[in-house]
Amino acid sequence: MQSIRLFMRLAPYVRIRWPLTAAAYACALLSLTCSLVQPYLFLMLIDRVLTGGEKELLAPLLLASGGLAIGSMLLGTVQAAMFRYLGIRHTLDLREVILAHLRRLPMAEIERHGAGKYSALMGMDTATMGNFLNHVVKELLTQWYTLLFALAVIFYLDWQLALAALAVIPILLAIPRMFRSLIMRHTGAVRAHNEEIGTYLYESIEGSREIRVHGLERWERERNEARYRNLVGASVKDTLYRVLSAHSGSLAVSGIVVVVYGFGSGRVLDGTMTIGMLVALVSYLNNALAPVQAMNHFVGELQGGEVAMKRIEEFLCSPEEPMPRQGVAAEAKGQPWLPAVEAASLTVLGGEQTILDGVDFALKEGQTAAFVGRSGSGKSTLFRAILGFMPVETGLIRLGGVPHAAWTREFLNRRIGVVFQESFLFAGSIRDNIAIGRLDATDEEIYEAACKADLGTWIDSQPAGLATILGHRGDGLSGGQRQRVAIARVFLQRPEVLILDEPTSALDRGTEGQVLQSLAELMKGKTTLMSTHRLQTVEEADMIYVMEAGKVTDKGSHADLLQRGSAPYLAMLSRQSRISEADSFEDVALPSDLPLELSKRELPA
Ligand SMILES: Nc1ncnc2c1ncn2[C@@H]1O[C@H](COP(=O)(O)OP(=O)(O)O)[C@@H](O)[C@H]1O
Ligand SMILES: [Mg+2]
Repeated sequence: MQSIRLFMRLAPYVRIRWPLTAAAYACALLSLTCSLVQPYLFLMLIDRVLTGGEKELLAPLLLASGGLAIGSMLLGTVQAAMFRYLGIRHTLDLREVILAHLRRLPMAEIERHGAGKYSALMGMDTATMGNFLNHVVKELLTQWYTLLFALAVIFYLDWQLALAALAVIPILLAIPRMFRSLIMRHTGAVRAHNEEIGTYLYESIEGSREIRVHGLERWERERNEARYRNLVGASVKDTLYRVLSAHSGSLAVSGIVVVVYGFGSGRVLDGTMTIGMLVALVSYLNNALAPVQAMNHFVGELQGGEVAMKRIEEFLCSPEEPMPRQGVAAEAKGQPWLPAVEAASLTVLGGEQTILDGVDFALKEGQTAAFVGRSGSGKSTLFRAILGFMPVETGLIRLGGVPHAAWTREFLNRRIGVVFQESFLFAGSIRDNIAIGRLDATDEEIYEAACKADLGTWIDSQPAGLATILGHRGDGLSGGQRQRVAIARVFLQRPEVLILDEPTSALDRGTEGQVLQSLAELMKGKTTLMSTHRLQTVEEADMIYVMEAGKVTDKGSHADLLQRGSAPYLAMLSRQSRISEADSFEDVALPSDLPLELSKRELPA
């Protein structure tokens, strides 16, 4: 019953391949029938050939037995391959469903949990469910078939013994119930510990560099050890109860067999039963009770499936990002789409905390706005809100006149190109990595985009050219080259609006200068929102927005802000000048002693 319920819950998420499934079950049952007929052949061998003396039956009986054995073996092999195929396909189906939901989750949610949670879900839980569908369900069905087949033969041979066997079955079935809740509890605990350990292992690998430079091996070992202790405890208990459940069943079966042997021996001595019948009876009785026992074994697996299914369902019910993925945003029909971006009284929360607090800005098509402010002042959050990654609490963002409430993911993807501080590269060729900007681009277009991003010389220098393979996260490229790949993607994408969130801050100054040239090329004719610590880039912006603690504290062009002697902007420039290389606006304490010592270059004429 439990297995049927579990099956019904799982079925909507996988495509049950009915013809193949039916063929696999047919093979499994046929193979089973071949082996189930064997004890009956032995009954005939003992009673008719050995004790009855019908010698001419020996050869046909042996031939039949051999034929059935070969048939059972062949069919058994075919069904195993079919079930394996189905098992993997169903696991992958389920993985697709989970991945599809992951793609619809709010970005903040994914960033909060990290890879550990989702990899446990997609690895362990889907595998458990694939196994359930094609191993557990199949085993349960074949066990029931064996039980009914054997009972039918026993009834045919001796109805009194058959009734006795039937009476024992409910007792055998009751045994696993005693262990059910115990197993369930510990299986759940094992699953939870595994998820937690998964997260830590993932970090251990991702954080290899930090662990090595800080000599953290021992700290890591101790941290892991504490988690392993919990897992080991829960696993041992889980197994203990599963084994106890299974062995209590076996013990009961052995007892019954002993009783039947005793009872049957008496009847053989009386002459009311033949030896062949006794041997066949015990053999079928074993066949009838073994499935009941096996079902006890499967109780553990069923509980495991139950736990995995619960996790999957919980995940699939978690709320999705409210933005629709496709469809046409409510753009004004007939009018040309102008890539203007504006925000009015924009408030964005991060948990309880207000991250953006009444931000206003307006950017006409083709203009460039620079957002400057310390680290943590909310620049990235503003960009994330424009990308639809952070929900707007109050206020409004408009992109080309379309309010954020009417945006679709497709609309944003088409219109906005992004370069983050660090860009994610996928393992694979550099061609595929650039083609992410526009998947249907030709090799010529990809190469052209690469050249515009100043990657052409590097690609030409590689023997494999565009087909050069990059390692994990783009291993094999320098930081500057990775940013260039990101820029090439945007060249290929040809969006109308650009968001550049500190695209060069992870680079050294020399590289930065070159990447900035590529960016300047990219920005031509586009509406650009950027945050940067590069003074020169800021100066050239049409509009500068100074941000502090989630608010815009001043705005204007560079000249305008200097003319007015804008205190927040001057403070920013002062911080800038305090770093001798004029490197960064950020992370330098705000001087309390204004007015400021500005470098001559910054002062208005
Ligand atoms: N998802 C989030 N949940 C809660 N707080 C967040 C979240 N993202 C960022 N913050 C907080 O918001 C503030 C602004 O961060 P951010 O926008 O990254 O600033 P900036 O890009 O200017 O350095 C920081 O104090 C940060 O701790
Ligand atoms: Mg930032």
